[in-house]
Amino acid sequence: MSHTSLVNVELKGDVAWVTVDNPPVNATSSGVRQGLTDAVVAVKGARVAVLRCAGRTFIAGGDMSEFDKPPVEPHLPDVVQMIEESEVPFVACMHGNVLGGGFEVAMACAWRIAAPGTGFGLPEVNVGLIPGAGGTQRLPRLVGMEAAIDLACTGKVLKAEDMLHLGAVDLVADNLEDAVNRFVAELPDRPVPVSQRTVSDFAPDLIDTSRESLKKRAKGQQSPLESLTALSWAKMLFSEAQPMERARHLALRQSAESRALRHAFFAERGVSKPMLIKDAKARDISRIAVVGGGLMGAGIATAALNGGLSVTLIERDPEAASGARDRVEGLLNGAVKRGKMTETQFQNCLSRFRSVDGYAEAADAELAVEAVFEDLSVKQQVFAELAQNMDANAILATNTSYLDPIEIFSGIENQARCIGLHFFSPAHVMKLLEIVHTTHTAPEVVATGFALGKKLRKVSVLSGICDGFIGNRMLAAYRREADYLLADGALPYQIDQAMRDFGMPMGPYELQDLTGLQIAWANRKRNAATRDPNERYVTIADQLCEKERFGQRAGKGWYRYEEGNRKPIRDPEVDALIEGYSSAQGIARRAFSAEEISSRLLAVLANEGALIIEEGVAENSEAVDMVQIHGYGFPRWRGGPMNYRDEIGVPASRAKMDIVASESPGSWSVAREDF
Ligand code: NAI
Repeated sequence: MSHTSLVNVELKGDVAWVTVDNPPVNATSSGVRQGLTDAVVAVKGARVAVLRCAGRTFIAGGDMSEFDKPPVEPHLPDVVQMIEESEVPFVACMHGNVLGGGFEVAMACAWRIAAPGTGFGLPEVNVGLIPGAGGTQRLPRLVGMEAAIDLACTGKVLKAEDMLHLGAVDLVADNLEDAVNRFVAELPDRPVPVSQRTVSDFAPDLIDTSRESLKKRAKGQQSPLESLTALSWAKMLFSEAQPMERARHLALRQSAESRALRHAFFAERGVSKPMLIKDAKARDISRIAVVGGGLMGAGIATAALNGGLSVTLIERDPEAASGARDRVEGLLNGAVKRGKMTETQFQNCLSRFRSVDGYAEAADAELAVEAVFEDLSVKQQVFAELAQNMDANAILATNTSYLDPIEIFSGIENQARCIGLHFFSPAHVMKLLEIVHTTHTAPEVVATGFALGKKLRKVSVLSGICDGFIGNRMLAAYRREADYLLADGALPYQIDQAMRDFGMPMGPYELQDLTGLQIAWANRKRNAATRDPNERYVTIADQLCEKERFGQRAGKGWYRYEEGNRKPIRDPEVDALIEGYSSAQGIARRAFSAEEISSRLLAVLANEGALIIEEGVAENSEAVDMVQIHGYGFPRWRGGPMNYRDEIGVPASRAKMDIVASESPGSWSVAREDF
């Protein structure tokens, strides 16, 4: 497509209408930049130019596929500057989203008119960048420093109504075309260009206090702080600061953080379309049954109600059904209290919800998710009941974490309709959904799982069957190496600190204390008989459990806790237990640096991920990375363990894994390098 067709100029009377038409989001690709440059020339002679976009949105960002390549002329800052300096003043006429480069273009226009609900933001921070076409310099001049920080350092999107309030938009109007026609008919005096204005006064310590709070929230991510630094340059002349912003923007395009965040952005979209369902058509699901209304079942029901579905929750008896109803109502109420849901939406959710103690009411559901106790025979019984009461074609799903879905569904006729939908706790909050297919599951059923995941606003990842599926299997490997480090010389707080320094929200031991040590203990006991006798097995966690140190709720676990306080406190009793274990095993304890600890744990994660891909359990490294980011808090700005491995280099990661494997012989399979 030639650039001329991306931007069209049409003269109606003395008004030039400049229309960008570059679907799907009118990104500022090189063709659009050239088209806009030509348009500034073409509108000469008109009284005013209106800049608008075809399709569903105004310019909603840059073309990310250009970010890895050398910049191509004309550059966006020059285009923006031309629009601002054009003899013929521009009116931006906006709908949909006005993001990144789109917002930068809009700020260069003399006036801004938007449809109600239009979104405005500078989301560059979300992909490890700062704006590069004057965004950090014009925004504080337009809305003030405080609002500019709020937008540019968080990537937040504000609505046209808020922007009107901030003075960044001149008019919000339902019928845009009419409004623009009326506006240009009686054009006000042309205002001073935004770049030539001064930033209004702000609190002297605003930059410093913002830096502190951003640092805390960013957990190692740099781009919010980079944005803040660039915003602080707005005290200088625009002509001095803008080239500095541009240079920083271009440098950041090459940063590991930006590569990682762009990888995550594309992976999120990529994992929703696995090869397996390439040609499959999803069913539209609107009514589901959830069996078991405990921690997980209540969360799943809440997520489904939020997603607009009708939910029948089935519990064991009337009392349990009423308890489950209270739990779901409580979760929905929490959303109302936090301002995430209106009272009307709350009532609407409740009208689609019932909690019962019999299967007959599941008859009209198109899909059932089971979230009862982690017990094979209980689950088998539940599915026998569901099969009897539901349509013969209805989809049957299990939320099991560790049991084999093939065994769970063994008594069911037509196993093509059986699937695993593995949610993460709390299920109404956590973004990850592992969609587990068995050898029998029909692609159309898998596709329906993905469609359901989308309704529930989850990031769905396809997983085959193995112990713990993708996520919990990797977690087990991670914890195993952490335990080896404990046995060989590290202490829990050192390991936790090392992983937090890497960017994890929590280290492995504080996390175990938070979620409780019992489930993993039960799993270890269950697996004891089948565990490879050559595998090194560290009993420290078992010893803690035997002492009923089950974690935060018990007041003690890997740490001790003071009444009513969640802060982990190092416990000499635990240190002594660990040291006693090492000496009983004849291990001479040695020191591990934070770098050594994190590099080993990351090598183990990457290795397990590579094995999972090799075995075909995960489709690719994007799938593994999405599981880690959305289910386990792996820092998004590191892109996931596979992306991190690629960033430091496969040979370095492999070399570290070889050391790990050699120190605990018989305990690790090392992935091939050529998968
Ligand atoms: P839970 O113990 O909180 O809830 C289980 C619920 O199932 C209880 O309310 C119980 O009354 C009900 N129930 C038991 N037998 C039933 C039957 N025959 N018919 C109807 N209801 C019955 O357990 P939780 O934590 O919610 O776990 C449920 C399932 O979810 C398990 O398979 C677990 O492995 C899986 N899971 C748990 C996660 C977690 O973090 N707790 C995460 C992901 C999956």
